Amino acid sequence: MFYRWIIRPIFFKTDPEWIHNLAIKFLKYTSENNFLRKILKRIFFVNDPRLKVKIGNLEFENPIGLAAGFDKNIEAPLAYSMMGFGFVEFGSVTFRGQPGNPKPRLWRLPKDKSLIVYYGLCNNGAAKARRRLKDIKNKMDIPFGVSIAPTTDVPKEYMVSDYVNSFYELYKYADYITLNVSCPNVAACNIFEQISFIKELLERVKLIREKKEIKKDIFIKIGPDMGTENLDKIIDMCLEYEITGIIATNLLKDRNDLESNSGPDELKHPGGLSGKILENKSNDTISYIRKKAGTKLAIIGVGGIFTAEDAYKKIKSGADVVQLVTGFVYGGPFVIRKINKDFVKIKRLIYCCKKKDINNN
Ligand SMILES: Cc1cc2nc3c(=O)[nH]c(=O)nc-3n(C[C@H](O)[C@H](O)[C@H](O)COP(=O)(O)O)c2cc1C
Repeated sequence: MFYRWIIRPIFFKTDPEWIHNLAIKFLKYTSENNFLRKILKRIFFVNDPRLKVKIGNLEFENPIGLAAGFDKNIEAPLAYSMMGFGFVEFGSVTFRGQPGNPKPRLWRLPKDKSLIVYYGLCNNGAAKARRRLKDIKNKMDIPFGVSIAPTTDVPKEYMVSDYVNSFYELYKYADYITLNVSCPNVAACNIFEQISFIKELLERVKLIREKKEIKKDIFIKIGPDMGTENLDKIIDMCLEYEITGIIATNLLKDRNDLESNSGPDELKHPGGLSGKILENKSNDTISYIRKKAGTKLAIIGVGGIFTAEDAYKKIKSGADVVQLVTGFVYGGPFVIRKINKDFVKIKRLIYCCKKKDINNN
């Protein structure tokens, strides 16, 4: 309540990227104080065996993760369990550090509970990310992944090698690696529509994993508007190249369904859309993958989660665990605790209904 009625209106009058950076600094300084971190974790982290989930080699205390894009440079790694998340994905990281698109590059669409994101993969690069991950690896108390994406000015023919370079830098220091093949703000983003490119990438990663005997879980992150034909091919490739699972989905390019369509100046800006606008497309993609792949692939569902009901919809569509960013930005510090608490209630309710059904039969 305090966040929604007092803090958020003040924050929402200020440049969103500036607030984003301020939030990370605040989380960093709070979480670096051991005493404060422990107290806040006790308040925010929900311990309940019914929330536990296992995917591949990863064990999650709860199924609610922080999605890529919030902490690109691994600045406040200890803060996320403190805020109640069950896991976190850092990045996306590119092999060479890059400044991203010129500012401003983040806009709010409150009517749509959405953000326009045009960061353009700004980050400090894989070498710095490796040093950060090495420093924090033994301190982390939740599983964490790192998302890798192509350096923007690399010619298309070297993009696979660019991913592979980042993979070599980072695979040892994260619990899982995500191959982000869906950022809508990459200059040559039509490369992601080329299935041959994704195939070559997965082939190269598989070879490295075999050669180095890497057991780490690998995910691939896809966009919400790729079409069923391409999705079918990606699912088949994930099975063929032994990918742990698919993260569905990244930002939306299509703006036709926006409520704010006639309105604010923000709409003239380029970028991908996060938040509520993405929810149905993301859920449809998850259902499709689950139907096609059965239990052979794990699914991390992401897009438009603000409440436990939203998270449950994704799990019902076929996701094993979920991630969010925009719901955290709009909902504030208590939102993850509330989602986890309400999620336990939903599970308990479903369990009771099922039991009643069995007894009645
Ligand atoms: C500010 C911001 C930056 C993002 N940056 C990345 C990124 O670097 N890599 C990535 O894979 N996804 C990125 N995303 C996409 C999110 O990880 C997520 O897929 C998308 O926002 C949908 O989830 P949401 O509705 O909960 O925000 C970003 C999203 C936001 C809001």
